[in-house]
Amino acid sequence: MVRIGVKKVAPEEARADLLALGLYADEQPPEGLTATAEPALSSGDFTGKPGQTALLYGGDALPSPRLLLVGLGGRSSFTPEKLRRTAATVSRRARALKARSVAFSLPTLEDADVATTARAAAEGAALGLYRFGRYKTGENNDDGGPEDFDLLVSGSGDEEAASRGAGIGEKVAGGTALARDLANEPSNTATPEYLAERAGEIGARYGMTVGVLDRAGIEEEGLTGLATVARSASNEPRFIVLEHRKGGGERPVVLVGKAVTFDSGGISIKPTTGMEDMKFDMGGGAAVLGAMEAVGALDLPLDVVAIVPATENLPGGDAFKPGDVLTMHGGKTVEILTTDAEGRLLLADALSYARRYEPAAVVDCATLTGACVVALGGHASGLMGNDEDLIAEVRTAGEATGERAWPLPLFDEYTEQIKGDTADLKNSGGRGGGALTAGAFLKEFADFPWAHLDIAGTAYGKKGNAYTTKGATGTPARLLVEFLIGRSG
Ligand code: BES
Ligand code: MN
Ligand code: ZN
Repeated sequence: MVRIGVKKVAPEEARADLLALGLYADEQPPEGLTATAEPALSSGDFTGKPGQTALLYGGDALPSPRLLLVGLGGRSSFTPEKLRRTAATVSRRARALKARSVAFSLPTLEDADVATTARAAAEGAALGLYRFGRYKTGENNDDGGPEDFDLLVSGSGDEEAASRGAGIGEKVAGGTALARDLANEPSNTATPEYLAERAGEIGARYGMTVGVLDRAGIEEEGLTGLATVARSASNEPRFIVLEHRKGGGERPVVLVGKAVTFDSGGISIKPTTGMEDMKFDMGGGAAVLGAMEAVGALDLPLDVVAIVPATENLPGGDAFKPGDVLTMHGGKTVEILTTDAEGRLLLADALSYARRYEPAAVVDCATLTGACVVALGGHASGLMGNDEDLIAEVRTAGEATGERAWPLPLFDEYTEQIKGDTADLKNSGGRGGGALTAGAFLKEFADFPWAHLDIAGTAYGKKGNAYTTKGATGTPARLLVEFLIGRSG
């Protein structure tokens, strides 16, 4: 990973392979850079429009050989999210130029303090360089990006605040990169056992308690949903619990992440087209583990428990079948209408298991429904729950991190839709309101303040943006960390 630093140096005095300066629309560069920037400005080629760039060469005028101007757009509409993208544009350009060191003059934001600003810049710069290249043989996989990325600030007070913010941003980016790596990893590598090993490493790194149940342990604990989905899988399931106890023993926050390492649909098998994407069906678990990596690195003064139920969903002679009835952890019965609605079965187990912690709040995240992708596309996660304050808190954390979550309703009518004929509940409510009936199903197992993030549209993408690539985004690892930081105050 790139090292993010902070320096109290004026840009015209900074010495780096690439000097970068963000300029708001119709504003002028600082005195010492005017001469170098002048050709781009007077030609009208560079006006400060968002995302616009101009690469200039200062010759002897500057200690840095290259100056990159980056447009920030209007000052009053600039946000930390836009800064993440700007910093990523800079770090990617540095990589393209083979610049090993970057000095980026930290812009000032109207509505964010210096620490928040530096954090956003650090996150963007680091995440913009993320690549998943380990299976490309013959290509140079050492990433070739910049080694040092310094944020330039002007005041001494700023230096301290910016260092703090950049440090947080670096750790959050590290956790997010781990989440992306886990999710991008194909299902023949990222098995439930593999996830448990990675969780074990996080736990060992930061002194967390790690508990892992194997198939026998899962059955013994009565985690029926997980045991049933896993029955026909030859890669053994795991029920992973990580405890970070740094808060002094108050009620913990519990994070739950769905980790179906491959979702074929089971007996209710999915169509071939796009099935390869179902390796991402552990994106929730990946994000929870990534968030725990950041929680550990930040040493948050908080009690946090992560629960990741992990299995494959495959057809086989031993597979569960439509029509089967399960008696779940906690005693409720569920009739299976489709084996492709498997995620809610393992999440129900995890929620029910979470009761023993008497949690202050539980947030689960899961690539749960195609319906949520239809509703919100890739631009927001679906947000549901049983506690308005918690929902608002999660939504705010999403706003702050650029990992948007948008509230969806859990009206009683959605619960009616999943009332069973032969059993208490059925695992599908039919086509109408698919994201909401899935949420309503989970609600039946949530006996505490609870919020649910449906990340089916946001956990991975076909395109990528300035700081995400095609494939796993790591969402909502940053949202979760932000939420936890908010709770550690
Ligand atoms: N993992 C899928 C949901 C999904 C779909 C994630 C598309 C990412 C992209 C989930 O297990 C599933 O199959 N859900 C079904 C539920 C239905 C059968 C009630 C769905 O959404 O079609
Ligand atoms: Mn499914
Ligand atoms: Zn699934």
